[in-house]
Amino acid sequence: MKIITKPLELKEYLSAQCKTVGFVPTMGALHEGHVSLIRNAKKDNELVVVSIFVNPTQFLKGEDLDKYPSRHEADTKICSISGVDVLFLPNREDMYGSDEATLQAPKVRGYVLEGATRPGHFSGVLTVVMKLLNIVNPSKAYFGKKDAQQLNLVTLMVKQLFMSVEIVPVNTVRESDGLALSSRNMYLSASERKDALKISKSLHLASRMIMENSLNVEEIKLKMREILAPLEVSYVEILNRDFEVIQKVEIAKSVVLVEAMVGNTRLLDNIWV
Ligand code: PAF
Repeated sequence: MKIITKPLELKEYLSAQCKTVGFVPTMGALHEGHVSLIRNAKKDNELVVVSIFVNPTQFLKGEDLDKYPSRHEADTKICSISGVDVLFLPNREDMYGSDEATLQAPKVRGYVLEGATRPGHFSGVLTVVMKLLNIVNPSKAYFGKKDAQQLNLVTLMVKQLFMSVEIVPVNTVRESDGLALSSRNMYLSASERKDALKISKSLHLASRMIMENSLNVEEIKLKMREILAPLEVSYVEILNRDFEVIQKVEIAKSVVLVEAMVGNTRLLDNIWV
């Protein structure tokens, strides 16, 4: 596995290879969810590039930028064992100048749900994803469905800016008890981890209600909130796949989303129904 830290060196290296490139952008603290993205990338492409970059512009003041889990050695090992061809580890100075053009997240879709609790977050995500895609120039880039709003906005950006990369959504990986894998799960104490299960349980209930043809969005959200009650819930929403408000679940065209604070840790999860 080749490790490259300089953006222009990576760009030159990849263009000399003349191979189809699959790209997995990450912020490190890799887990099975990331490995699943890498596996998908390996299946579809001749060469796989993973980036690890804790992007400062997507963190708001007071968020966990400085304590975001860093597992450099373990991450490198995971990439190498998973068959990654190139690991890209840029530093902040090489990714950002002091005064530069940036992308603005869409004013509606970028400022609801997670964008409402973290205004500006998605502008930072889109800016760094655009930079990374321009450096790597992949045929396909792989994003987890767990971050459904991020996936939706990146897909929209690629379409609206007429970019040629294909964005590939990959299913959420869960622990055997239902907890969605997330780098932030590392922050949870044993009792918080137990509380965190209320999130996947509430989604499970939603999916059961929908299977039983109970499709009223308000009713489902009310029942979900009963399960989530002890947690500080940021949002419970059921939207269509364009992230628009609906009154009645449209089967195979909707998404159920939850974000809640478990102790000091913000966790999000969703199911596509
Ligand atoms: O999902 C993430 O880990 C990050 O938001 C991403 C896409 C790597 C951009 O920093």
